[in-house]
Amino acid sequence: MREVNLLAALPATKRQLEKRAAAQTPKNIAIARQYGAEYFDGSRDVGYGGYSYDGRWLPVARDMVDHFGLKPGDRVLDVGCAKGFLVKDLMLTCPGLEVFGLDISKYALTHCEPAVIGRLHLGSADSLPFPDNSFSAVISLNTIHNFDRAGAIRAMREIERLAPGRGFVQVDSYHSSEQRDLFMSWVLTAKFHDYPDGWLSLFSEAGYTGDYYWTIIS
Ligand SMILES: C[S@@+](CC[C@H](N)C(=O)[O-])C[C@H]1O[C@@H](n2cnc3c(N)ncnc32)[C@H](O)[C@@H]1O
Repeated sequence: MREVNLLAALPATKRQLEKRAAAQTPKNIAIARQYGAEYFDGSRDVGYGGYSYDGRWLPVARDMVDHFGLKPGDRVLDVGCAKGFLVKDLMLTCPGLEVFGLDISKYALTHCEPAVIGRLHLGSADSLPFPDNSFSAVISLNTIHNFDRAGAIRAMREIERLAPGRGFVQVDSYHSSEQRDLFMSWVLTAKFHDYPDGWLSLFSEAGYTGDYYWTIIS
């Protein structure tokens, strides 16, 4: 298990923290947690404010293919794949790679990239409908923190079951109380978040032996 920044090549996001802090109402949080049209393609107050493909995951996909030594014929799963942008970019980066996704959002799956139609499954990360040891790598970006702690442990166990020692998860975290305050002024959907040590305890409790990194607002 090791810490590795596989999203280093992703362009930085410019966040309007003050505007979001004002929008963190129980109603907006409830809308965001439905992961429907409003979360992906509605106002920035309840989610992405428009979630469209722009190729930004291509360099990340290249780093993932290198990191896991992926080759044509290998199977990869993206848990929390949304509209399948990373699924598409992994397929473009390594032609012949068998890439699949899973997400809880029917809206995202029915508005997916045309290139990934038929590759995305509707389901929840804590109950993955695939056999043990059936993937060469399982990736999950900014999704596991949407569970409470018990759910996050179940989800980490599932990733480990499908790809023992060959997972990569990126989750919400912070290194200081200042970073935690910034995170708290931005968060809408995450239910469990912690300092890296807290996440490492959770990974260990789940028996997770794959890799990981942190999404930190600074
Ligand atoms: C912040 S988005 C991240 C999407 C994509 N991985 C990315 O990094 O751009 C979180 C995603 O997790 C999905 N999600 C939330 N709860 C989930 C669950 N229990 N199982 C699977 N996916 C879930 C949402 O629908 C959404 O697509």
